[in-house]
Amino acid sequence: MSKRISAAACGKIILFGEHAVVYGRPAIAVPVTHVQATATIEPSTHGLIIHAADIDRTIAVDPANPIDPLASIVNLTLAHLNCPLPHVTITIHSTIPIASGLGSGAAVSTAIVRALAQWFGARLDNAEINALVYEVEKLHHGTPSGIDNTVIVYQQPVYFIRGQPIQTFTVAQPFKVVIGNTGVASSTKITVGDVRKGWEIDRARYEAWFDRIGAIVQQARSAIESGAIDRLGSLMDQNQVLLRDLDVSSVELERLIFAAKQAGASGAKLVGGGRGGNMIALVADHNVEAVTAALKDAGAVSVIVTEIK
Ligand code: PMV
Repeated sequence: MSKRISAAACGKIILFGEHAVVYGRPAIAVPVTHVQATATIEPSTHGLIIHAADIDRTIAVDPANPIDPLASIVNLTLAHLNCPLPHVTITIHSTIPIASGLGSGAAVSTAIVRALAQWFGARLDNAEINALVYEVEKLHHGTPSGIDNTVIVYQQPVYFIRGQPIQTFTVAQPFKVVIGNTGVASSTKITVGDVRKGWEIDRARYEAWFDRIGAIVQQARSAIESGAIDRLGSLMDQNQVLLRDLDVSSVELERLIFAAKQAGASGAKLVGGGRGGNMIALVADHNVEAVTAALKDAGAVSVIVTEIK
């Protein structure tokens, strides 16, 4: 039987602190294991082919193609492992919606690194994988904070400050969030770039917004660590007000946020880059169904319920 290797990586959401995290404030992100990217490696007769099955895209990798993110993660990993280009097909499957704040790019890269390491029988620790994936995140995002690759590679809740060692933290009392997808693809590179343009024009105003977001993140961390889940809803709402100020919300996101709140969610906000993609709503067990139904009625193209623990 011919050799076949598979590796996977989960999705993620940023609970609090997106955008401000690019400017040195803390953010909290958690893995979403209900959605996954998988990379499967099998022998091929000539060269290295990557087949992104869900988007029907096939590319041939050669070491001189540094631009494409998929080719890049392969080339970076091979260079790190000091291995020659193998004659294989790498097939990618992913249930993580693309360009929607759930970390699909970082998850695909992570799955590819893990699969290639296994293919060559090499052991890479999480810090090495994280550094490789971060290099490719720069191609996706421009100036990424590194939060996506960190939470996905380590697959645990993180309190993240750019450039500092990652801090994991304890969830004293598990809680549920409902994730609603607007179905609008939005490029994080563009929203991050637009926030930067605004910051360049009026640094004082943006720094004040980032400070307020940072303070919310700290309060959220202590609420999560002490099991004060009743405080989290209002903190989500406050974070969303500031994301609106940063001009990264959208009509579709606001429609879902409003619907979730009307159906009993105790707080709701967009997640990730914004202007599309996903929002989250904090829900008690007894209103998971009502909020899920309300989001679908309001136009969500998919709804995921996940427990943070
Ligand atoms: O859109 P996502 O889920 O990749 O998240 C981006 C988060 C930002 O804070 C907007 C950017 C970053 O690099 O941290």
